[in-house]
Amino acid sequence: MLHRPVCDLLGCTYPIVLAGMGGVARSELVGAVTEAGAFGFLGMVREPVAMICAEVQRLRERQVHRFGVNVIPAATEPALLDAQIATCIELGVPVVGLFWDLSAAVVQRLRNAGTVVVCQVGSVIEARAAEDAGAQVLIAQGVEAGGHVRGDRPLHDLVAEVAATAGVPVLAAGGIVDGADLATVLSLGAQGAVLGTALIATQEAFAHDYHKRRLVEAGVDDTILTDVFHINWPSGAKVRVLKNSVTRGERGDAYSGPRTVIGEEEGRPIHLFSTDSPLRSMTGDFEAMALYAGSGVGRVHAISGAAQRVREIIAEAEALLGSGAVAPAGAMDDLHESAANDDVLLPALNELLEAERAGARVALRTAKEVAESDLKPLVSAIHRDEARWCGVLTKAIHQLQGIPSKRMGAFYDKAMAITDISARLAFLNRGQSWVVRKLEALLPGIRDESIHADLTAMLSSHIQNINLVAARLPTAAKPSVEGRT
Ligand SMILES: Cc1cc2nc3c(=O)[nH]c(=O)nc-3n(C[C@H](O)[C@H](O)[C@H](O)COP(=O)(O)O)c2cc1C
Repeated sequence: MLHRPVCDLLGCTYPIVLAGMGGVARSELVGAVTEAGAFGFLGMVREPVAMICAEVQRLRERQVHRFGVNVIPAATEPALLDAQIATCIELGVPVVGLFWDLSAAVVQRLRNAGTVVVCQVGSVIEARAAEDAGAQVLIAQGVEAGGHVRGDRPLHDLVAEVAATAGVPVLAAGGIVDGADLATVLSLGAQGAVLGTALIATQEAFAHDYHKRRLVEAGVDDTILTDVFHINWPSGAKVRVLKNSVTRGERGDAYSGPRTVIGEEEGRPIHLFSTDSPLRSMTGDFEAMALYAGSGVGRVHAISGAAQRVREIIAEAEALLGSGAVAPAGAMDDLHESAANDDVLLPALNELLEAERAGARVALRTAKEVAESDLKPLVSAIHRDEARWCGVLTKAIHQLQGIPSKRMGAFYDKAMAITDISARLAFLNRGQSWVVRKLEALLPGIRDESIHADLTAMLSSHIQNINLVAARLPTAAKPSVEGRT
């Protein structure tokens, strides 16, 4: 019931993925989740190649052959990054996960070597760029996530938008700790869930017991997004951690004064305000270190075996999806939309979704072509809007117990066949006018207040964009009214 195409690509039974947590996710944890049918990344950010080799060997010794290695180009010295990537390729690591600033060159190098590339992203724009660079799986990371947080969007909004517009499988990350969370993100169009925090609170995680204990003691309001833990990372990068003396400002100013050593790991000093979190191999003042935690931490109540945690999540998600309490997407794409509770509205919303997905793609490609011109901000804003409406439509369809279409409107091919940018924008405006007419016809019959409000906002945004584009077009290219599907 939970199996999704992404499982075949990664090589796992269930669409549950252990996040590539630096320091924390080592072979012991990856091995444990793999044995329960999930997929795991070794968190190897800034680790020497000798450690990557040793950890890969340990996994292979316990017959784990499908696993990933996570590295972070923007937080790694170029020479070390180069050696890490070369090592992954030499060792035949099947999957590599990347995060933070996109390095298209690294993606291409890995793809050329036959490695499956997964990119974690924090926005729709980043998702599109990663897919264009060659990523085969995207992780949409919501602002609820523990550790470094790339974007500022709540997971459910972001994942619905990314899944509605991406051409590759999308996984959801951020605040996911149980089977209900997994069932929910599946229902929003994700093909699976990435878990960090919930899998730190396990016997096999390499985190120090202090960190694990603090996680299970934490309540729902105990995390904070902050940039005070900054040493080792690009400046301004935010992390979600448990509140502590550092986040309360009791340890001084993070950005001035000499560096203070507060711990050590095998001879390496651990500095106050660094991104290091307490590990088994460390000693020191753990309270003042980065105690990474996602906002789901208040629902993690025990330190358990990792395989047991994965099994509990699978059982709960299967029970929920089996009972029909949460409508699954993706796995049921081929089912007829007879589950729909509204014979007119659901097909219309799906038609709009396909059209908006096409509009979003057209705007994105066009924004690239006009990169050097003053049209770029306008076309990029249209792309953002169109992607947002894809998310809104996907949510509305789920709310009505329907199955969101995965198809791309034929409008995309028609629009992209037009090479002249003004003519293509005029065609895009005709499509936008078609959406306006559709919405005007639908709105009077919509009883659900929240869907009505969302579609009303969608209508006025389309009218506004039509006017903005029309004002920029030469008269000959101004649109007449035509259809868009
Ligand atoms: C302790 C910790 C370390 C992390 N380290 C990394 C990392 O090295 N690379 C990476 O891509 N993501 C890293 N992340 C972020 C995860 O990929 C993921 O987005 C996050 O754990 C999901 O949110 P959750 O913790 O609420 O499950 C880390 C997260 C945590 C909690």
